[in-house]
Amino acid sequence: MKSIVILVALAVIVLQCESKTFTRCELVRQLRNHGFPENKMRDWVCLVENESSRRTHKTGSVNKNGSRDYGLFQINDKYWCSNTSTPGKDCNVTCADLLTDDITKAAKCAKKVFKRHGFNAWYGWKNHCQGSLPDISSC
Ligand SMILES: *[C@@H]1O[C@H](CO)[C@@H](O)[C@H](O)[C@H]1NC(C)=O
Ligand SMILES: *[C@@H]1O[C@H](CO)[C@@H](O)[C@H](O)[C@H]1NC(C)=O
Ligand SMILES: *[C@@H]1O[C@H](CO)[C@@H](O)[C@H](O)[C@H]1NC(C)=O
Ligand SMILES: *[C@@H]1O[C@H](CO)[C@@H](O)[C@H](O)[C@H]1NC(C)=O
Repeated sequence: MKSIVILVALAVIVLQCESKTFTRCELVRQLRNHGFPENKMRDWVCLVENESSRRTHKTGSVNKNGSRDYGLFQINDKYWCSNTSTPGKDCNVTCADLLTDDITKAAKCAKKVFKRHGFNAWYGWKNHCQGSLPDISSC
């Protein structure tokens, strides 16, 4: 029993160490590395800033419909990620996969959401990113 408690405590510590808040330019670099197009870069930066404040580990609170949003892009578990320990749903990932500092899976999934719905899939973009966009000229 005691060792389980210690293991859980260690897991929590490891998970916390994994969490990361990107600076704006780090985010731009990450998005570039994962092939996000330059002509929509400021929209993506704006979206991420409003959805997760650039935090890879952000888990949203439970929405009214019982779903939850995960990670940098706040991707919803209703359709996109499996909130069990086996990968699944449309992105074929676990929701925990969307919370890591390595954003490979989250980026791939976000692009899939975008392909299907465009930026309108994100309230953070809809409500916040149709006017002025963040300045990334120094990145
Ligand atoms: C996102 O934008 C809304 C207004 O559209 C604001 O209330 C909210 O605080 C913003 N969130 C972040 C993390 O900037
Ligand atoms: C559930 O609610 C959230 C937040 O209100 C929304 O973003 C999401 O699209 C909803 N999902 C479904 C399937 O209605
Ligand atoms: C997993 O997601 C489903 C569908 O969104 C939701 O009904 C359920 O409460 C979630 N479970 C957890 C542990 O978040
Ligand atoms: C889902 O991902 C797993 C590896 O995580 C892979 O083995 C499986 O074939 C994938 N399923 C689909 C439908 O892509």
